[in-house]
Amino acid sequence: MEFKEVINERLTTLKYTDQKIKKEDLNKIINNAIIAPSAKNRQPWRFYILNKKERDKIADMMDAWEKGIKENEFGIVTTIHRSANIMRTASDVILVYKYGEKVIYKETVDILSIGAAIENMILTATDLGISSTWLADVRFVLDDINQYLKIKNMDLMSGIAFGYRAKKPNRKGRYPKEYLILNKKDVEYE
Ligand SMILES: Cc1cc2nc3c(=O)[nH]c(=O)nc-3n(C[C@H](O)[C@H](O)[C@H](O)COP(=O)(O)O)c2cc1C
Repeated sequence: MEFKEVINERLTTLKYTDQKIKKEDLNKIINNAIIAPSAKNRQPWRFYILNKKERDKIADMMDAWEKGIKENEFGIVTTIHRSANIMRTASDVILVYKYGEKVIYKETVDILSIGAAIENMILTATDLGISSTWLADVRFVLDDINQYLKIKNMDLMSGIAFGYRAKKPNRKGRYPKEYLILNKKDVEYE
């Protein structure tokens, strides 16, 4: 795909077919994650490729968590149930962890680095004709997940689901550039 097409085709997928991703494609996705830029080249990312049993278990934890909260307790309408279904039905889900100290500046830049790695994964998948969903909703049950997977001293940042989409989603709206570029009077843009 041309770069422009990759950027435009990357859309969050909510419904997957049951077609499976080839192992070699999953490898390409991880290979491109680990060449992302990172602060001081610390490469704070770690990956956990979930098997189907683990995915289903985590999806159940997410559903149970949503049932247990009072409506709007978090001040947001959560998409956790929808995210749990995506966990179950996508071809593969990779958890992305942050390895390293929780020191204010370091933590922030390490999180930024992980965002870069995740975007590399998602764009690589798009280029391979594979759709994806960025699933930060796993964080609602991060302690349960770590206990279940026996992972210690690492912060679960997100899950990323990959698979083949059932249909192309509509592009969601974006704020106009006039609103986003703060010094718009001094900057020329198209
Ligand atoms: C950090 C981050 C976390 C996200 N977490 C979730 C999630 O847990 N569940 C979900 O369905 N979508 C999630 N999304 C997808 C967003 O809802 C989506 O990117 C946004 O609505 C814009 O739509 P688009 O990706 O199709 O352009 C997340 C996206 C980002 C960048």
